[in-house]
Formats: sequence, structure tokens, C-alpha cells
Amino acid sequence: MIQELEELRKKAESELATAGTEEEILTLKTKYLGRKGLLTGILRNISNVTPEQRPLFGKRSNEVKEELSARIDAALEVLAAKGADDALLRERIDVTLPGRGVKPGRIHPVIQVSWEICSIFSALGFSIAEGPEVEEDYYNFEALNIPKDHPARDMQDTFYVEDNIVLRTHTSPVQVRVMEKQRPPVRIISPGRVYRPDSDVSHTPMFHQIEGLLVDRGVTFGDLKGVLTSFLKQFFGEETTLRFRPSFFPFTEPSAEVDIQCVMCKGAGCRVCGQSGWLEILGSGMVDPAVFKNVGYDPDEFTGFAFGLGLERIAMLKYGITDIRLFFENDWRFLDQF
Ligand code: PHE
Repeated sequence: MIQELEELRKKAESELATAGTEEEILTLKTKYLGRKGLLTGILRNISNVTPEQRPLFGKRSNEVKEELSARIDAALEVLAAKGADDALLRERIDVTLPGRGVKPGRIHPVIQVSWEICSIFSALGFSIAEGPEVEEDYYNFEALNIPKDHPARDMQDTFYVEDNIVLRTHTSPVQVRVMEKQRPPVRIISPGRVYRPDSDVSHTPMFHQIEGLLVDRGVTFGDLKGVLTSFLKQFFGEETTLRFRPSFFPFTEPSAEVDIQCVMCKGAGCRVCGQSGWLEILGSGMVDPAVFKNVGYDPDEFTGFAFGLGLERIAMLKYGITDIRLFFENDWRFLDQF
């Protein structure tokens, strides 16, 4: 019987040595150590062993069982470890590959133009002022000499927030807010967002303007022309030709719009300038005495000029952009060009 036991052990060991998969090893385990397994079976026949040999046989068969069981467990462990290694190899990442990288952002072209204009006016002694985008009807219209029901309100379609609260339709209300707080001399420039319910290739419901205001004793229309000429030549180039064209704004008198000769066709007439050879750049004028009265300035003592211009329009002309909506799509391929 002991002979038989040893042979079973050898057989089991050689089979285990050739078992390559987890499945094969588990089958082996059942074959020898299972409830109906070969080793278990041999123990059941202990009655065939002589009483003198029984203790030895019992001891040895337990040893064989434990040994085999330990070897099987070890084999399973080796297999599991190898599986983990294989997975590591399979899932290996190449750390020498270049990273994906993060594209750096750019200053938006409209902001670039705003900064450039602000710096030109800073050099002329203007300082920067800001005002709210959600504005009182009083500052957006009333104080600027545009009473309720005045036909001039139709010049600027308006988003109303409440009865007397609007999204400002222009940056001109900043003029009033500054003058209310400050005595002349005043020299300010005010960039910011404005809102009008318009939408097509040259209008978006939100766009940017820059307002300028200069008030002091003895300011004349000649000063207005001088300052705006100097600004436009610095911005569009020394060779720029401009013209002052009579216009109307309720808050300036007299008023003028300033045109530059078309930057695309140099005055010959093209699609951009509507064949006129001229591009409308800004609105301006001498501050109306009615506005001075509203802020408590004496119109006999002080005079001044104001102007306002649209930043998207200026940026479109400067960079040859034909659709204003490109500024607000945040398409990196567009923004990367500036
Ligand atoms: N606020 C005017 C507009 O939006 C522009 C302007 C500003 C005109 C200052 C004259 C003086 O059209």
C-alpha cells in the first residue's frame, strides 16, 4: 500500500509539472485531492493495511496530501503572478512619447485693439474710466439729452431689463457718471461692452465701444479735430486721409462723423466701403450745453468734446475681417491669427 501511495505521489507530481493553465491545475486538484479523488480513495482502503503498518501509512498519506496541496497552491500562485506580469507588458505605456501639450491662449483681437487705442490716448493724457453695463435709463438716455418719447431713442434699439433699467446701448453714459463726480478738467477714455438687439454680418447684440471725453475751459472744435486726427493717424498709419462730416447726436452740438479713406481700396471704391471710397469710423461732437447742465457744469465756463467708436468695426477694418460674428465664435483657428 505504501508503495502504491508513493507511485500516486510521483504521478501527481509529474502531471503537475506539465500542467500549464489554471484550468489544468484545478482539474488535477480535483483528480487527486477531491472528495472522490485518487489520494482520498487510497486512504479509504486503510483497512487493507496491516495494523502494524497503519500508523506509518496514515502519517505518510497525510504528508503526501499536504505536500501535493502545497505544490498545487504554489503553481497557481506562480501562474497568477505571471498573468499580472503579462498584463503589465501588454498595457505598457511609452513614456518617451511627446505629451499632448496645452495650446497657449491669445489676447482677443478686440481686446488688442482696445488696449492699443487706450495706450494712444493715455499718451495724450487721458485716463481710463468705467461704468455699469446694466444702466439706468437716466444715464443711458435722459441725462444725454434724449428724453422719453424723443425720436432719437429710435436711433438705438434697446434691451430693457426693467422699466427704467436698460443694457447700455452705448458707452456715453460713462461721460455723465464721470462728470457728476468730477470737476473739469476731465480727460477720460472708456472702453466696454454695449448692447443692441441687432444681428447680421456687421451687427451682434453685444459689441464693444470706446468713449472719449475732454472738458476744460476754452476747448474748441479745433481741439476735437486735432486729437482725433492724431489718434487715427497713429492707429491706421500716418498716410491715412480723413474727413469730418456733419452729423447729429442729441448729446453733442455741433456733431461730426469721422471717415477715413477706405483701407482696402484706398478710395477707389470697393465692396467694403460700399463703393464710396470712405469708411465711417466714429461719432463725435462738442458736448451739448444741455448735458453740462444735467451734471452741474456751467456751459458758459466750460466746453468740451466727446467721441465714440465701435471696436469690432475698427478691428474688422484693421485686419480685413468680413464677418463680425467670427469674434464671438471662439474658434481657435481664427483667434490664433492675431
Ligand atoms: N454714443 C454714440 C453712438 O453710440 C457715439 C458718440 C459718442 C457720438 C460721443 C458723439 C459723441 O453712436
